Amino acid sequence: MSESGKFSMKIICIGAGYVGGPTMAMIAARCPQYKVTVVDINAERIAAWNSDKLPIYEPGLLDVVKTARGRNLFFSTNIADAINEAEVIFVSVNTPTKTFGEGAGKAADLQYWEKTARDIIKASNSDKIIVEKSTLPVRTAHAMERILNANEKGMHFEVLSNPEFLAEGTAIEDLKSPDRVLIGSQLTEKGLAAREKLVEIYANWVPRERILTSNVWSAELSKLVANAFLAQRISSINSISMLCEATEANVSEVAKAIGMDSRIGSRFLNASVGFGGSCFKKDILNLVYICESYGMTEVAEYWENVVLMNEYQKKRFVRNMIRVMFNTIASKRVALFGFAFKADTGDTRESPAIDVAKQLVDEHARVVITDPEALDNVPKDLAGCMEYITTETDPYEAAKGAHAIAIMTEWKEYKTLDFERIFKSMEKPAFVFDGRNILDHKKLFEIGFNVYPLGKECWKHF
Ligand code: UDX
Ligand code: UDX
Repeated sequence: MSESGKFSMKIICIGAGYVGGPTMAMIAARCPQYKVTVVDINAERIAAWNSDKLPIYEPGLLDVVKTARGRNLFFSTNIADAINEAEVIFVSVNTPTKTFGEGAGKAADLQYWEKTARDIIKASNSDKIIVEKSTLPVRTAHAMERILNANEKGMHFEVLSNPEFLAEGTAIEDLKSPDRVLIGSQLTEKGLAAREKLVEIYANWVPRERILTSNVWSAELSKLVANAFLAQRISSINSISMLCEATEANVSEVAKAIGMDSRIGSRFLNASVGFGGSCFKKDILNLVYICESYGMTEVAEYWENVVLMNEYQKKRFVRNMIRVMFNTIASKRVALFGFAFKADTGDTRESPAIDVAKQLVDEHARVVITDPEALDNVPKDLAGCMEYITTETDPYEAAKGAHAIAIMTEWKEYKTLDFERIFKSMEKPAFVFDGRNILDHKKLFEIGFNVYPLGKECWKHF
């Protein structure tokens, strides 16, 4: 049978990153009847997707990729050919915060998106459905349709918004069984037909009642708002963590008490050294910029405070370290346990550990960083500070001779370390700053540590 007869639909995704790679792997694994090709301008990344050492660390991902790779899942740098044969084109190229010009520091940089739209026009010879997978400012679909449909070949492009809500570390579970899949379209005949086509793809494994449809602007905006609400919960509980420390309340007890109210809910109420990840800060700043551009100053300020609170939490964490370590950490060895922005990922984008390390270096501390997955990123993320920084794969080695350990990432392996052994190898007095509240603080105190959790009373020996 010819290849074109073998598959009932050809789908591609432009952008083989944290979003595009896992999402397409899941579609291919669940829908053997479709040909799914993931393309990227980065040849090294594509080569990694074609190997057993995938370019991103995500539990369960390799198994899903292996189920479909070579059967109906392909990774390629041949972007033009893939575009030409596809019926549905997902776009998940990156949309970082603009670093230049109007809106610098807040607005989304859409240059890769627009370039991709122009690549699509160039390589296409037939009508196509374009699916926005990247998180984009509300009303981007309008601009995209104008660019795409200004083509001189008479082709029609229908733009849908299908934001991805997966979280890193749990991407496979999130994709297998999403809370909801959101698909926004224009409410025209062509828009609704395109929307139905996308619904059909997801309906291969997602129950219909979880496939939500809306107008295209609601879908675009919902992604920004979902991330803003999630981040806002963390900033809210982090603000309360400070108040708990001053009043002898315990932030975990407060979170439990409020979280049992079904109107509030218990998730995303863990106080931390701060939220990280490629999305929260970028998306909130994007929301802020959009509100500002509509002249909604109060709304913009309201959301900007979620980010400002997060920046403050990271500063406050280091200030506290300096204060309790006798107001100086110059030339003291400080071990950071964890560099990834959360557990079960090697991703360090916007990781709070980066800011904490930089602040410690500003104080001339000697920082040693350990992490099971993310150490390769240290030299790039901390360029300019490496004179003061070393890395250690083994946490026991990292702790040797240190005055303090600071928990930056909630890796489960840190909970079961032999802290008696660690204590013996450290300078005294030895400090633990638990930026994730994952350790047994009383036990550490009994071993001899001075222990500083977040939002809870500290345990100190003097
Ligand atoms: C990205 C965005 O950061 C996020 O806003 C959006 O929601 C989804 O896409 P992520 O997958 O984590 O998220 O980004 P990244 O891992 O950087 O992947 C983007 C990929 O697009 C990269 O591999 C990059 O090489 C590729 N790319 C970028 C292209 O193929 N073409 C381009 O023109 C630009
Ligand atoms: C987030 C959204 O959850 C996801 O829906 C969206 O698609 C992308 O952005 P992600 O950034 O991968 O996903 O991880 P998430 O689990 O949301 O964690 C973000 C940050 O918040 C991490 O640094 C995490 O450690 C922190 N966090 C999370 C807390 O500090 N406290 C919490 O209670 C929960």
